[in-house]
Amino acid sequence: MKILIINGPNLNFLGKREPDIYGSNTLEDINAVLEKESAILSKDLQLEFFQSNSEGEIVSKIQDAFEKFNGIIINPAAYTHTSVAIRDALLSTGITTVEVHISNIFKREEFRHKSYVSGVSVGVVSGFGINSYVLGLRGIFETLKSH
Ligand code: DQA
Repeated sequence: MKILIINGPNLNFLGKREPDIYGSNTLEDINAVLEKESAILSKDLQLEFFQSNSEGEIVSKIQDAFEKFNGIIINPAAYTHTSVAIRDALLSTGITTVEVHISNIFKREEFRHKSYVSGVSVGVVSGFGINSYVLGLRGIFETLKSH
């Protein structure tokens, strides 16, 4: 089972960026925790990590995942609230998707309450910090396993 983990704009700045909201872990820390969790879940699970600040690159990466990945975990970051293109790319590939957020987007400014990605995801995890990714991985693994 192959899972692609996509992180959107400014998430390469985790650790330095608004630590009161996003905590002190870096993206590398999150990826290392996910690798550990993956080894616990199954030896057949393979993860690939991708981060980009560019909407077009994220769309292309999703298209490239067509018929190569079983699932996508995506934190679209600010594009969550704006990107019809990322939503359409996910719909086009039909790959099972889980949306994750470090912060609870519903507790924050109103413009963050709307997500273009939630409606094309099997589930959403928001507000558990770095554990949102771990819960997202467990969720997508169980979903794909039962298919
Ligand atoms: C975020 C929430 C978004 O609103 C924000 O633009 C981000 C990060 C999160 O993980 O909490 O960049 O996706």
